[in-house]
Amino acid sequence: MAKAVQDNPTMEIRDFFYAAEARIDRWRTVNRVAKALATSQRPAAGPGEDPRALLAELQPLEELCGYPGPGLMAQVHERLQTGDWTGFARLVQRISSALLSNSYRDDQQVWRVEENGEARVPDILPPSIGRGQSHRPYFEVLLVSPAERAAWPEIRETFRRLRRVEDEFVYEPVVVGSLEDAALAVVFNPNLQAVVISDGFGYASQYTVPVLREILTRQVELAESARGGDLGTVLAQMVRRWRPELDVYLTTDRDVARLAGSAEAAPIRRIFYGVEEPMEIHLAILDGVKDRYETPYFDNLKHYAQRPIGTFHALPVARGKSIFKSNWIRDMGEFYGANLFLAESSATTGGLDSLLEPTGNIKVAQDKAARALGGDRSFFVTNGTSTSNKIVHQALLKPGDIVLIDRDCHKSHHYGLVLAGAQPLYIDAFPLTQYSMYGSLAIKPIKKALLQLKAEGKLDRAKLLVLTNCTFDGHVANVKRTMLECLAIKPDLVFLWDEAWFGFARFSPFLRRRTGMAGAAAIRELMRDPEYRKRYEAFKSNAGKLDPKDPKLLDMELLPDPDKVRVRVYETDSVHKSMSSLRQGSIIVVADQEFHTVEPAFKEAFFTHTSTSPNLQIIASLDVARRQMELEGYELVGRAMQLALEIRRQINTHPLISKYFRIATPAEMIPAEYRKSGFTDWDAPGWTMTDTMGALNDDEFYLDPTRITLLCGAAGYDGTQFKALLASEHDIQINKTSRNSVLVQININNTRSDLAHLIKALADMARGIEKRLAEGGPDEQAAFKARVKSLVEDVPDLPDFQRFHDAFRDDPKSATQEGHMREAYYMAYDAANIEHVKLNSKEIDERLAKGPELVSAKFVIPYPPGFPIMVPGQVVTKEIITFMRKLDVKEIHGYNAGKGLELLKPDTLAKHRTKAPGRSAPPVHGGA
Ligand SMILES: Cc1ncc(COP(=O)(O)O)c(C=O)c1O
Repeated sequence: MAKAVQDNPTMEIRDFFYAAEARIDRWRTVNRVAKALATSQRPAAGPGEDPRALLAELQPLEELCGYPGPGLMAQVHERLQTGDWTGFARLVQRISSALLSNSYRDDQQVWRVEENGEARVPDILPPSIGRGQSHRPYFEVLLVSPAERAAWPEIRETFRRLRRVEDEFVYEPVVVGSLEDAALAVVFNPNLQAVVISDGFGYASQYTVPVLREILTRQVELAESARGGDLGTVLAQMVRRWRPELDVYLTTDRDVARLAGSAEAAPIRRIFYGVEEPMEIHLAILDGVKDRYETPYFDNLKHYAQRPIGTFHALPVARGKSIFKSNWIRDMGEFYGANLFLAESSATTGGLDSLLEPTGNIKVAQDKAARALGGDRSFFVTNGTSTSNKIVHQALLKPGDIVLIDRDCHKSHHYGLVLAGAQPLYIDAFPLTQYSMYGSLAIKPIKKALLQLKAEGKLDRAKLLVLTNCTFDGHVANVKRTMLECLAIKPDLVFLWDEAWFGFARFSPFLRRRTGMAGAAAIRELMRDPEYRKRYEAFKSNAGKLDPKDPKLLDMELLPDPDKVRVRVYETDSVHKSMSSLRQGSIIVVADQEFHTVEPAFKEAFFTHTSTSPNLQIIASLDVARRQMELEGYELVGRAMQLALEIRRQINTHPLISKYFRIATPAEMIPAEYRKSGFTDWDAPGWTMTDTMGALNDDEFYLDPTRITLLCGAAGYDGTQFKALLASEHDIQINKTSRNSVLVQININNTRSDLAHLIKALADMARGIEKRLAEGGPDEQAAFKARVKSLVEDVPDLPDFQRFHDAFRDDPKSATQEGHMREAYYMAYDAANIEHVKLNSKEIDERLAKGPELVSAKFVIPYPPGFPIMVPGQVVTKEIITFMRKLDVKEIHGYNAGKGLELLKPDTLAKHRTKAPGRSAPPVHGGA
């Protein structure tokens, strides 16, 4: 890393992620060179074989890491200096394997210093569990000091001497002396859990680090403005932005009382006066990590499992007696282990708390999760984000409310709207016809719908905007801008960001800014900013008078009134999809300044959808997943992103694989109009980190690199076929499919071996195709060509939503397309109201040409693409029929090919329409 980061002003994002991997690789190289030295007893002369040069490249990063640390590094250099090749090789071997295996975290032997051929474990207990003691997790603490370099060893020793046997954790101090080095350490040392800043340190790094300015542009601007002054609080803000989970402490000689109450001290956990109390700092550090480490629900569940409890309630598997004593199902106990059953209970007493009415451990665990994900509060859900979404819909919506919603949303939203009785105003996402998938919902059509509602005097009924972020295929919205522009039209609009796939993004400094919660926080900050107020006043005097029908409004960036905006944001995350929770673990995160007005309704909705027997193990795993992400999410997500970028590059540049398989680039997945930065691919020549940061900040859509659309049409496979082939022949499971692609998802669990596995499988398949074509003769080649053409070129157009039948519209002449979907849904419950018409029948064509209109009685959801191409009450258009006829998928929910399409009968619709005036008027809305 060191070199790439130090003097590469045009570093690319993959170099950035590669930096951490490169450190281990570099040590391996030093190890190889050292072994050769020890064997030949003289320095090698080959290029890249000079151990001094290799170590010099490592040095800048080593200075930022606790292990091997300055003591062992000094010894490495000394052996090199004295020509003790054997000793050098032994030491390098130990360091490199300790780094590779992570054993330095709990094996004190790898920290030992060797003197005169004798091993000596340092007097001060090194970061180690020590033999016979229970495991003590290891981390590193950054000490930012104004002291001369010569004093650093003493600073390190001061902190090491504070270690006590009773400490729950053990940490190694890392000392740096400038703001830039501190920032580098925060960025590149994932072992850091706390930063202790002593005011008075300098600005510039001892190394040249242009890349820092690229990564931390905004923060460095802050720092630049504070040059010459005390940089402590500036550094604290930088840390908060890059890794908000780290604890920051400040020791200062300034007026601590005044500082403690100031806004600049907000990111600091505790302020100390001078260095009067190192032990207090030590205890504060441990306490801060403990706060993240503690999992109140899981801890208590473990405790509960150990107690000799007799159970007389309705759960025979509790304590495992019905299983371990059984003659027939004991294997279940053996398979899952006793703890699972010891931890099963239906009690809400004994500290287990109640998910439905949490007041104890679950409440604390939820508060911690809210902190981790950046919200004001959070709610655990044990039946997936499908349920989280329904809870939010029901909590916020009343019959008659209008909800702006992407038609391509997950089905839980559509069903949620039926339950809530709100009227969906469907808006179409931009299509990616070539891959038979939809992209995401752009800002312009949302604004258009809101402005139309305003023009028709219906804006007060528009309650909620539902958006998927990121989409199944990785489209990430510009959350902040989307919300700002909507709030400019309706300042109290509520947002539900379905981040089922995107929970992990909170722990990436790159993607975090595009989460619902980060958007909410950014808008809160912006609305308080006096500079923004000035911008708003200027905007108002220009655009404020425009008529809602004026098309200019669609093309200009709208700014909301800071005095009127209410920040009301909900985010739902499938913790099980991107973090370490058991299946169905989900969370609702809330940043709603009007929450008090909906709290009773939220409770009711939670009661409606939550089992009275929630699964305790899922709750515990939500608690543990939060702990993991707060302590190692930064590292894990960074590694997943690095892996994803590497897979993309390897496949797209492989001469054989890329003939048949390719990964769709951001330029292919996102139309150019939504990539104003010009971003096309992470690997595009000349594309730098600065460019990446620009695209992340400003583009309307970004692509989550970990969601990889692997195109297989050019290999002659449709998505379903290819998925089956990967599973049966190569033991590879992938996510979803489209007509000519599959989705490969890289997660925090993936490794470089997985990458190799996938690439090998694709290379084998590509070789197989080459062989088949070479040996099959012209017939085989022609058949292959035709198959590829049909998959890649003859793709059906994706049908738009179009409209609800007039029977379900309050005003059929309205320009906005909301409809009473619930009425249509329940109409289909009466068999007398429905008819079936075969998809390929002549009747369908005749009715499309002459009427009466075909109106769906059902949600019809083909997999793929996985969104409802028909919803109850929707008029079925020619485009939909054409699309369905071309669909070659087997799984279509809501459609029975034997019976045909289920439609609402025209005469029922006619009667319903005549009844429509009696429909209860939209409810009067007050408050929220
Ligand atoms: C966008 C989106 N939201 C919600 C869900 C439902 O999540 P869960 O599986 O946690 O119920 C899914 C599932 O695939 C989804 O894709």
